[in-house]
Parts: sequence; structure tokens; C-alpha cells
Amino acid sequence: MDSGQLSQEEIKKLIHRAIEARRKSYSPYSHYQVGAALLTADGEMITGCNIENAAYGPSNCAERTAFFKAVSEGIREFVAIAIAGSPEGETLSQYAYPCGVCRQVMMEFCEPSQFQVIVAKSEEDYRVMTLAGLFPDGFGPGNLRED
Ligand code: THU
Repeated sequence: MDSGQLSQEEIKKLIHRAIEARRKSYSPYSHYQVGAALLTADGEMITGCNIENAAYGPSNCAERTAFFKAVSEGIREFVAIAIAGSPEGETLSQYAYPCGVCRQVMMEFCEPSQFQVIVAKSEEDYRVMTLAGLFPDGFGPGNLRED
């Protein structure tokens, strides 16, 4: 397990916040509840949950909710995100890896080799990886620059 510069304590706190955020999940269609907690470079934690819609398409993932909340408040530097997702219920029965769209959104604001993605079943049971590991050779803002 490569947890980068994050301490076990920081990881546990982030997971705790993701699990709390999951309780806010609005998922009456899939009954799949996701919470995320995004750690900013300033040490702040911004949370998000998945928000579904009767028209299905406008649904938003927990990870993107957290990113969009942060960016809309002027925050653009991030260290890590913890994700807690599983079918409805208190127990987290699976590690919820971010969908492809969320990985692309992370590419926009994060250094892929540095940004840590934590998928958790509990504060004790989790996996840590980098965005680069999850999304190798991803297309990002650097591709649009000449240098
Ligand atoms: N979902 C997330 O919030 N994050 C993910 O990374 C995967 C999927 C949500 C979207 C939808 O509300 C539900 O989980 C089932 O796909």
C-alpha cells in the first residue's frame, strides 16, 4: 500500500468524512450510496455525495460533487480523495472505485503521480492508489500546451 505523504491518521479522518457524507446520498433510483471527502492543499476537507435525478442523465457522482463544490469556492489544489460507496445500507460491502468521468475531472485539477485516491470499506479497511495508477496516460490540461 502506497499512502504517499498522508499519515494513517489523516487517511482515517478523510474516510470518516466520506462515510458521513455518504449518509447524504440522494440515490432513489440506483440505491447505490456514495460519499467522498476531498483533502485540499490547505488541509481543508470538502465533502460530496451522489445526487441522482428522475431523468437519470443529470445525476452527479459524489467525487464530482466534492470537486465542483471546492472549485466553485476558488480551491484548485488537492492532495487526496477518500471514497465510500456501496449499495444502500450502513455496511460498506465493496471498494468503490471512481468512474471514468470522475477520473477525467481529477486529471483537470490534480497531478496524477501525486494525487492519492483512497477507496474504503471502513476506517481500517481501505486501499490507496495514485490517479496515475487509476488513469494511466490520461489526457489533461498539459496536452493543450505547446511546450
Ligand atoms: N457513483 C458515484 O457517486 N461515484 C462513482 O465513482 C461511481 C458511481 C454513483 C452514481 C450513481 O448515483 C450511483 O453511484 C450508481 O451508479
